[in-house]
Amino acid sequence: SIRQELAGKKIIITAGPTYEKIDPVRFIGNYSSGKMGFALAEECAARGAEVTLIAGPVSLKAYHSSICRIDVESAREMYDVALREYPGADAAIMCAAVADYAPDHCSDIKIKRSGDDIVLRLQPNPDIAAALGKIKRQNQVLAGFALETDNEEEHARLKMKRKNLDFIVLNSLKDAGAGFRCDTNKVTILTRDGEKIPFEVKPKKEVASDIISVLSGYMK
Ligand code: C5P
Repeated sequence: SIRQELAGKKIIITAGPTYEKIDPVRFIGNYSSGKMGFALAEECAARGAEVTLIAGPVSLKAYHSSICRIDVESAREMYDVALREYPGADAAIMCAAVADYAPDHCSDIKIKRSGDDIVLRLQPNPDIAAALGKIKRQNQVLAGFALETDNEEEHARLKMKRKNLDFIVLNSLKDAGAGFRCDTNKVTILTRDGEKIPFEVKPKKEVASDIISVLSGYMK
């Protein structure tokens, strides 16, 4: 690559879903494929960064030799790794679809089927992005994603503020070719400085390039 503007930078990326265990064979998860996060990791590495990719359970491979991949399963594990790694990083992009709730305990044995109703009690998971936002230093960058169904821009801006992000990538649900398991995406980037940067529908690899160009602007 001719663009090595991220040489010497360490960037953390969370990607994929999290699995919250119910018993030894069952979990609560979601449809996140991890494609967007993995594309961001490849793009950062291609521009010279050292990447720590914290990946939930996905069937994807990271190719670039500058990507250090750490596989996790639950939100709690992802939280622990992210909090440990962020102090040594220049930037973090929170791309994972973290489960909001987890069962309050995991059964040691497989839950047996019966004719009765069963109740799963769920506890809120920690907000990883918000936790990094709390410990963020002056010279560190933090970015996140938002998927909204109504008042998209307002909700995304509130989220950016609450989590102390420098910018947030708003996934549009209104457009065809955007979102989970799709190879394309349509995003709008909102920045803490009040900018709004809309993009066309394009392959996730190209969306990653657009996002990393914005990130790069915050890292000079
Ligand atoms: O609050 P909401 O889940 O909509 O925010 C989405 C953003 O926050 C994404 O960047 C996501 O990766 C991050 N997030 C997180 N930890 C959570 C929930 C969301 O890092 N527990």
